[in-house]
Amino acid sequence: MTATLVTGICELVTNDETVSGADDSEGLGMLAQAAVVVEDGVVRWIGSGRAAPPADEVVDLGGRAVIPSFVDSHAHLMFAGDRATEFAARMTGVPYDGGGIATTVAATRAASDDELRRLLAGRIAELRAQGTATVEIKSGYGLTVSDELRALRIAAEFTDETTFLGAHVVPAEFADRRVEYLQLVTGPMLAACAPHARWVDVFCEPRSPHAFTGDEARVVLAAGRDAGLGLRVHGNQLGPGPGVQLAVQMSAASVDHCTFLSDADVDALAAAADTTVATLLPGVEFSTRSPYPDGRGLIDRGVSVALATDCNPGTCYSSSMPLVIALAVREMRLTPAEALRAATVGGAQALRRNDIGRIRVGGRADLTALDAPTYLHLMYRPGVPLCRVLELP
Ligand code: NIG
Ligand code: FE
Repeated sequence: MTATLVTGICELVTNDETVSGADDSEGLGMLAQAAVVVEDGVVRWIGSGRAAPPADEVVDLGGRAVIPSFVDSHAHLMFAGDRATEFAARMTGVPYDGGGIATTVAATRAASDDELRRLLAGRIAELRAQGTATVEIKSGYGLTVSDELRALRIAAEFTDETTFLGAHVVPAEFADRRVEYLQLVTGPMLAACAPHARWVDVFCEPRSPHAFTGDEARVVLAAGRDAGLGLRVHGNQLGPGPGVQLAVQMSAASVDHCTFLSDADVDALAAAADTTVATLLPGVEFSTRSPYPDGRGLIDRGVSVALATDCNPGTCYSSSMPLVIALAVREMRLTPAEALRAATVGGAQALRRNDIGRIRVGGRADLTALDAPTYLHLMYRPGVPLCRVLELP
């Protein structure tokens, strides 16, 4: 086993308030002029660069900042094709209603396993080059038993965080047979997919003719829970709706989008802060020209907030957590420190994980280096490719 000393860290964000010598004034557990020893993918030592122990190899970052790698807790990376023309039409005023998902379903069904694997590997590399080490990957562009199953099988080659989203939309061939499709999703499709998934998700959006009502979503989530899966919900994306209340009632790990929230929704999320995370996806508001939710207000009311990309070919074809962070600060009024925490420990909480999102001894060595002296450059220099996951032996 090789011990690697990562040194020359001008500013180390650990997100761990217990780390010795840390400045924790912003909840970031920061150390100046720091070093980290990594062995076998695990952090073995954290401290001042001057006190660093000997190691087999040394990586000198020459004054860069290091943060915990981003945890992107909501992404739809398993697809073929793209919808650039739909995006162009939206920019001239055509609203998003989920109907374009059918285009991606057709392209994904037509792709070979090798093609899907190649596309996914490319996207994962793109994420790592932007600082993300953990990503949740949803199915949802297959919508047959065999296509959903293969999506999850291939996704599981790349992540532990696989999500069954057979209830993304009602596919065209079931358009006038919704009840039958729900029986398929909660019956044979779930049975085939559950062994390859950690989570079940549903697009709960009564405003979309393609997505699911609150009652339908409840049935999907209950079946998923009975099959041993954790719960996630797409809710309150296109307008006020039942998604948030449903997610809280069913103790889902996360309800995502939260673009249109009532006061009662915010109260429910605040009361459920230990259980259900509100995952904000500002890249979606940006790419669909929707209003941004009041992230500042959510944090002030005590809601647990995560930030994620939602990377998908329809509402946000961006895998950039730095973009998401910059938008959350600029448009949702999170402080830079809150945005960084939401993109790291917040994502970990949304995935109910304790081993990621922080840099601490004994934890995973998911370190992201910035070509900058402080994490503040993430928000200060939007659009500049500053960060990457450190690839260590
Ligand atoms: O999270 N809203 C539902 N699903 C995705 C969009 C999927 C698509 O349009 O392809 C989302 O925004
Ligand atoms: Fe999504």
